[in-house]
Amino acid sequence: MSTQQSQGVAVVRDGSSERVFDWLDAVAERRERAGLTRRLRPRAADSTDLDLAGNDYLGLARHPEVVEAAAEAARRWGGGATGSRLVTGSTQLHAELEAELAEFCGFEAALVFSSGYAANLAALTALGGREALIVSDAGNHASLIDGCRLSRAEIAVVPHAEPAAFRKALDGRDGRRALAVSDAVFSVDGDLAPLGALAEVCRAAGAALVVDEAHGLGVLGDGGRGATAAAGLAGAPDVVATVTLSKALGSQGGAVLGPARVIAHLVNAARTFVFDTGLAPAAAGAALAALRLLRREPARPARARAVARHLHRGLTAAGLPAARPDAAVVAVRAPSPAAAVRWAADCRTAGLAVGCFRPPSVPDGVSRLRLTARADLTDAELARALTVIVAAAPTG
Ligand SMILES: Cc1ncc(COP(=O)(O)O)c(C=O)c1O
Repeated sequence: MSTQQSQGVAVVRDGSSERVFDWLDAVAERRERAGLTRRLRPRAADSTDLDLAGNDYLGLARHPEVVEAAAEAARRWGGGATGSRLVTGSTQLHAELEAELAEFCGFEAALVFSSGYAANLAALTALGGREALIVSDAGNHASLIDGCRLSRAEIAVVPHAEPAAFRKALDGRDGRRALAVSDAVFSVDGDLAPLGALAEVCRAAGAALVVDEAHGLGVLGDGGRGATAAAGLAGAPDVVATVTLSKALGSQGGAVLGPARVIAHLVNAARTFVFDTGLAPAAAGAALAALRLLRREPARPARARAVARHLHRGLTAAGLPAARPDAAVVAVRAPSPAAAVRWAADCRTAGLAVGCFRPPSVPDGVSRLRLTARADLTDAELARALTVIVAAAPTG
């Protein structure tokens, strides 16, 4: 045993400090035995793998205009935002992006965050609170689940995509303020939420509706305006949407869209806005360029959806259990986590990157390959992708 003096604090070294994290070894071993260990695999800049794993639905992340806009924004504004949006982190670029996003999606106002995750935490924590009830779909994304947890509201998790279950949970409340929250397109199976029916239920119950458009923006609705716009709900006084800039817009960041008074409240009350450094100018510039491209090329969303349908047809024709896509996500079930990992690894060996979803990322415990359709995939690339996935599929 030795005692070291470090800045006036006596640190006893008797070997016990080395054992503090020993419990992690047992956790890692259990995870490994269950086939659930996750490992980082750095992507090479010059990789020639076909990518059906990322969320670059419109193929804009490497579009020359998007990349140049990021570079120009960094040259003009610097490598980072330098502070919270409320201190030094708000630039004209952020304001322009917010105005154009709100206008494009049909909402009164928008507020940009450093990620879609942060945007979801903001919406639910600032609109929740101890006196509120939040009714949340069981298939919602982790960021919405965490937003519910952090909101301090009472939470009712209801069965997936069942408006009647939302109604029951809302009707049971005793005059408290309430919100219902749902992904627009669910990130695991790619199915569309029944937004029209949910809005009706919310209206009858005097509740707000919060919709996460992470997988809807740029893919669904007229010109990619999202599922909320397609359902005629954009701009409604009781509807809030959240988006990510990191999927169809090929950048990074997130936003909340809604009535101006909701956005003003978030500026003051959302901790992931107040206590977070603003979105990096390069990301804001890239997202703005992507949004302008989307306006100029409105056929991209329809192509992404057609690619998804083509993948689904090819997989089911080969007898694989693929879920019918409502947007650009195609999920195929695997018999076990280990089989899913092997399937994805075999695809990768053949030059195809696919997503591999396993517990705890899947709400029902069923592992899946997750394929993302991209508007810029050629017919030849699609044929190659299908050949590889089918050849690598688990047998029996
Ligand atoms: C449904 C959904 N919401 C929110 C997010 C978080 O967005 P971001 O990656 O911008 O933090 C994701 C991203 O994976 C998502 O799939």
